Amino acid sequence: MLKQLFKTKSLDALVHESDEPGHQLKRVLGAFDVVMLGIGAIIGAGIFATIGTAAAGDAMRPGAGPALMLSFVLTGIACGFAALCYAEFSAMVPISGSAYTYSYGTLGELVAWIIGWDLIIEYAVGNVAVAISWANYFKTFVAGFGIIIPDWMSIDYRTAEKIPGLLEHAPHAFGVPIVFNLPAFSIVALITVVLVLGIRESSRLTTIMVIIKLAVLGLFIWVGFHYVKPANWTPFAPNGWSGIQAGAAVVFFAYIGFDAVSTVAEEVKNPKRDLPIGIIGSLIVSTIIYILVAGVFTGIIPFKALVKTLSTSQAEPLTLAIQYAHIKNWGNFLVGIIAFGSVIAHTAVLLVFQLGQPRIFFSMARDGLLPQSFAKVHPKYRTPYVTTILTGLIVGITAMFTTIDEMVDLTNIGTLFAFMLVCAGIIILRKKEPDRPRPFRTPWVPLIPLLGIAACLYLVLGLPWITWIRFAGWLIIGMIVYFSYGYKRSLLRKNL
Ligand code: ALA
Repeated sequence: MLKQLFKTKSLDALVHESDEPGHQLKRVLGAFDVVMLGIGAIIGAGIFATIGTAAAGDAMRPGAGPALMLSFVLTGIACGFAALCYAEFSAMVPISGSAYTYSYGTLGELVAWIIGWDLIIEYAVGNVAVAISWANYFKTFVAGFGIIIPDWMSIDYRTAEKIPGLLEHAPHAFGVPIVFNLPAFSIVALITVVLVLGIRESSRLTTIMVIIKLAVLGLFIWVGFHYVKPANWTPFAPNGWSGIQAGAAVVFFAYIGFDAVSTVAEEVKNPKRDLPIGIIGSLIVSTIIYILVAGVFTGIIPFKALVKTLSTSQAEPLTLAIQYAHIKNWGNFLVGIIAFGSVIAHTAVLLVFQLGQPRIFFSMARDGLLPQSFAKVHPKYRTPYVTTILTGLIVGITAMFTTIDEMVDLTNIGTLFAFMLVCAGIIILRKKEPDRPRPFRTPWVPLIPLLGIAACLYLVLGLPWITWIRFAGWLIIGMIVYFSYGYKRSLLRKNL
């Protein structure tokens, strides 16, 4: 039985299956689209919402201070190792299942299932966090136009409990207060509709959104630069190495997404060339922007002032910095522009992640590990509509009732786990199939993948223990599902 569980699928068979009629997606994306999708997935809640906490710290962790720039460099390097490994795999096995598919071909069915199940945490749970953050910014943005969304319909129950008077003033049904996050659900529902309609439309929309978010961040860097006081960068690391490390763990969330590019592999015209460009290119662009934003942000607000301005305003660090700079005449206008850019950036992340999750389900169903209906492609739009709608419902409903912090930590651990397995897969496959054509080769194997594993492990160890327990619980549920469903129906094992 053990042998069967670790039986790997031939990579050639995997590639061949993606060409079968009825299971084919539409190949329309070029290198530019793929880089845009990558940036679309990467830049979002991480840079717009979490850098305040990363720089100032909170009750649970020390802040990085101006050394936040260094935190971004370190996490960027760690992600770079993983990105090189993703690039090799994606060019070699251009299949929409991403890390799930790579594991099937290298580490066997059981590990593939575990990673597929784990990717639900990266994509679906990650999107729950982004949808909640989107709702916060959206609320602030429309408030600028005098539209006030009541708290009881834009928050989850547990956060509401902490706000005095909120539960008492919410409408009640049978004595129970009604509290849920309607904007978070609505944006996910809207995106689901766009995704069912087609990949080309989704990609065009992403490109427009990426241009807007890059323009807004560019504006922040350019205007903000004039208000930077270099004296604010000293002391550079007020909490020393522990602050830098804690900061790196927080900003990891900001980098998640370059790997999502690999899930559109079956929709890229020339995947062997364009996927590595998309993965590595989008990571490099985002890293540069992050370091610049971190430099301007910490150069405008002195560390001590930032620590004082805790909790409420920290959630919107970039607008906070602009307000702090007291820009004459058009400071308020700039704040509005940044809030708008943030809403757009979040929307792009949501779009690409909502696009990635169904394609992983789709690949798992094609292998028989999930119901066959999950592998259905819409006759007219040629999109995996069943899984797209299912993902929309799961993410939208969860986002109505959960808190953002827990979702971010869980996303980080799930993603780091996937990165480690992909790095390990590269080493294994170089041994097992040294002659397989590799359109892109990770340099210095096994050094780079090993460094990738070590860096991810380091970040995982920095996460709270409760996250570990939740993650373990999720994997146990996954095992139960596998042994009661996929184990019996796996197409690979049927043919043994
Ligand atoms: N990297 C994505 C973001 O920051 C998940 O929103």
